[in-house]
Amino acid sequence: MSKTFYITTAIDYTNSAPHIGHAYEKVLADVIARYHRLKGEEVFFLTGVDQHGQKVQQSAAKAGVPPAEFVKGITQKFVDLWKKLDVKYDGWAETIDPHHKKVVQGMLQRLFDEGQIYKDKQSGYYSVRQEQFLTDKERGPNGEFGPEWGQVEFREEENYYFRLEQYKQWLLDLIDKRAKTECPFVIPDFRETELRNAVEKLSGDLCISRPKSRLNWGIELPFDRDYVNYVWFDALSNYISFAGYDPSLSTFDSQPSTFRDKWPAVQIIGKDILIPAHGIYWPIMLHAIGFPDDAMPQLLVHGWWNLGGAKMSKTAGNVVDPDALADKYGADALRYYLMSDIAMGKDSDFSEERLVTRYNSDLANSIGNLLNRALNMSDRYCHNTLANSGVDDIQLQKWSERGAGELHTNYSMRMEAFEIDAALMRISAYSTFCNVAIEAFEPWKLAKDTNKKPILEGVLYHLAESLRIIAILISPMLPKAAHGIFDQLNWKMELSGKEERFSLKDADWGKLPDGHLVGKPVPLFPRIET
Ligand code: MSP
Repeated sequence: MSKTFYITTAIDYTNSAPHIGHAYEKVLADVIARYHRLKGEEVFFLTGVDQHGQKVQQSAAKAGVPPAEFVKGITQKFVDLWKKLDVKYDGWAETIDPHHKKVVQGMLQRLFDEGQIYKDKQSGYYSVRQEQFLTDKERGPNGEFGPEWGQVEFREEENYYFRLEQYKQWLLDLIDKRAKTECPFVIPDFRETELRNAVEKLSGDLCISRPKSRLNWGIELPFDRDYVNYVWFDALSNYISFAGYDPSLSTFDSQPSTFRDKWPAVQIIGKDILIPAHGIYWPIMLHAIGFPDDAMPQLLVHGWWNLGGAKMSKTAGNVVDPDALADKYGADALRYYLMSDIAMGKDSDFSEERLVTRYNSDLANSIGNLLNRALNMSDRYCHNTLANSGVDDIQLQKWSERGAGELHTNYSMRMEAFEIDAALMRISAYSTFCNVAIEAFEPWKLAKDTNKKPILEGVLYHLAESLRIIAILISPMLPKAAHGIFDQLNWKMELSGKEERFSLKDADWGKLPDGHLVGKPVPLFPRIET
């Protein structure tokens, strides 16, 4: 059976509505998934929501509704937004799902039976308001806990712990071993270095429980009904539970083939959840339940969108709402901005003004204008009928070589490296090149001289063919616009609206047949006037 390209995103907390950071990550994963489908690969894209935990319990209490009802409402907002933004996933993870609960409990029971989970007493300072134990890191410069912690008291509590520290050397070796391969454990490099440094400092085991008296909105520990699991076993396991992992089968090789064909995944996460959750707890959890080293995932770590240089946060009241932006500018405009104005791994500053500028310059003025000019001239000079006459012209030959060869190769290289912004830059540069070529060939002059008809036909053919290739390459980022281009080129109309319409194999030069009839131009990216 062929291997599936398995891609996941972080699952989003459901204590409040989705924001622009969530949208960025899901669109990024969607673009990568669509690119792999474009290559003809089997793809499984999993995303979802993180529905348990203290924050949800608190927000639900504040709203005066039971947590189950509260998460239902927020979950619907995420589902609706992904639909609006054309985020097309194959699997949807909701952590309140009974099957997920069974997997988490199966894993915990196994680790408990094997002595990898033990009970211990914790004592220390506890913030009643924040419902958490405090460490020295939380002390202010004067050595006291600040007023944000409210009443702080000394407490003793029994909890369950997972033997994490014993795997430190194994994890360091894994990182080093993978660093020398084509599939490093973490991309980009500088995040891997950060992780390695953090693992070097790893000490102590992981507390995995909360007494029900403190937290009850969670998955009950199968070996002690007075406790629920606290966060990471519950949240991280979604990546395997929703891919068909069976905890009752102890070895990786005995897992159903439906699971083994998918796993390991490429996992997209933000920089804030690499250390310690995804970079330390997750591989160690997998290792502890018997996953071999070659079944460890790859972590693709993206940066954050900030606002005016500051972190966006609900408390600061500066969160950007992707739903309103999609309504205002359309899904493709928002997708284009989120994919083009941030470099992979780095942070960027969100600006609505930049969204409009980039849309107008790269989409309206460049690709949209190119389509409009190409189809208008085809209408005016050749009754919409293309001729692939194979005219012998060195400039046209260079054009097709550039379009078919260079663009395609550079684009693929960037996409394989998950550098979506760089891939888009190539497409945009090619579109500019085509617009410049129009100026250089001056089809309006060629049309006046019958001897120049073959060159004129060659230019019009090159324009249509370039747009056809642009549509294919841009389809992972802008699925709607790609269909719009194909529709206007009157190409593959039988697959209109379907993802199968696009295939990377078709991005070779010269697929539009001699005599092909193109459609009439319709504005694809109307300029946004501010
Ligand atoms: N529920 C946990 C993840 C569990 S994964 C097993 C969580 N949820 S979250 O809602 O806080 O964040 C979800 C994702 O959104 C994370 O990858 C996070 O990095 C990302 N982002 C949150 N804010 C962001 C920005 N401002 N910009 C870009 N991504 C951001 O963490």
